[in-house]
Amino acid sequence: MTIDDLHRHLKTASQTLTPQYTRLFHGRGNTYGAYRFLTVDSIDKVLFAVVFDANAEEDAIVSMLHTFYAEEKRWEALVVQQRYLPAAPASVIAGTFPDETFAIENGLKYHVNFQNAQNIGFFPDMKIGREFIREHAHGKNVLNLFSYTCAFSVVAMHTGAKQVVNVDMNKNVLSIGRENHRLNGIDTKNVEFMPYNILKSWSRIRKSGPYDLIIIDPPSFQKGSFAATSDYEKIIRRLHEFAAEECIILSALNAPELNSDFIKTLFRENAPEFQYVERLENLESFPEIEEERSLKNLIFRRRI
Ligand SMILES: C[S@@+](CC[C@H](N)C(=O)[O-])C[C@H]1O[C@@H](n2cnc3c(N)ncnc32)[C@H](O)[C@@H]1O
Repeated sequence: MTIDDLHRHLKTASQTLTPQYTRLFHGRGNTYGAYRFLTVDSIDKVLFAVVFDANAEEDAIVSMLHTFYAEEKRWEALVVQQRYLPAAPASVIAGTFPDETFAIENGLKYHVNFQNAQNIGFFPDMKIGREFIREHAHGKNVLNLFSYTCAFSVVAMHTGAKQVVNVDMNKNVLSIGRENHRLNGIDTKNVEFMPYNILKSWSRIRKSGPYDLIIIDPPSFQKGSFAATSDYEKIIRRLHEFAAEECIILSALNAPELNSDFIKTLFRENAPEFQYVERLENLESFPEIEEERSLKNLIFRRRI
């Protein structure tokens, strides 16, 4: 793939654009044989590119993006984030930052912040997971572990969940989570925001159970807080303490080096009453050459 091919790819991908969050180019999955270090998204009024590794083609790519941005006349700003630099700076290459930008998905809105050093507040690849929650949360007591900015909670409450308990050790992301509910006109009377380390808060988590639907969506590795290889098991081992009889689990894993069998084995060995149901499909706009390296969303159901 050359820069001209990339330009053509972006033009084709943007033909059917709506204000919904759309990944226009996903080099990360290595399916294009080049530009593995690049993603390009359309987020409401912003064309947003992320460069993950330093490379000689960056200037040429940014210049092509500028041309593309000017040709399309759809966005108010072109923003490029250099994720490989320590503070991951995001620069406005053209236009001006709109006062507010939202990630829009299936009629719901979420705050995004391009100045965040790492993620902008919303994970677009989890759309199918959120749609699963939308289909299953009505009337349910939901536990959202590693809630981040509470996108799952917004979807669950919007679809009529009885209660959602969000747990994340980062207070700041929980405040954005609260805001995300407000943004969508959702009353937070039956929503809890628990700013705790999950691995040290089992009694607090138990208190609002039993849960009919549990989401486990941890980082693959976060220094001092969570390592999937050793800590995922600690959660699965505890599930029986706060899961309702027919509890459904969405168990997510975004670690390329660990495959679905890693999670299935943890369940078999530590929570055998939970049976594996299915792995959710991933979005076509996030192609991955090795499927098992991509996001894994596994569904389990408790049968006693
Ligand atoms: C991948 S994000 C979760 C994404 C989220 N589920 C969503 O749908 O947007 C991981 C989150 O886990 C939190 N985290 C990491 N280790 C934790 C721990 N031991 N206890 C509680 N939260 C933790 C981080 O603060 C971060 O917000």
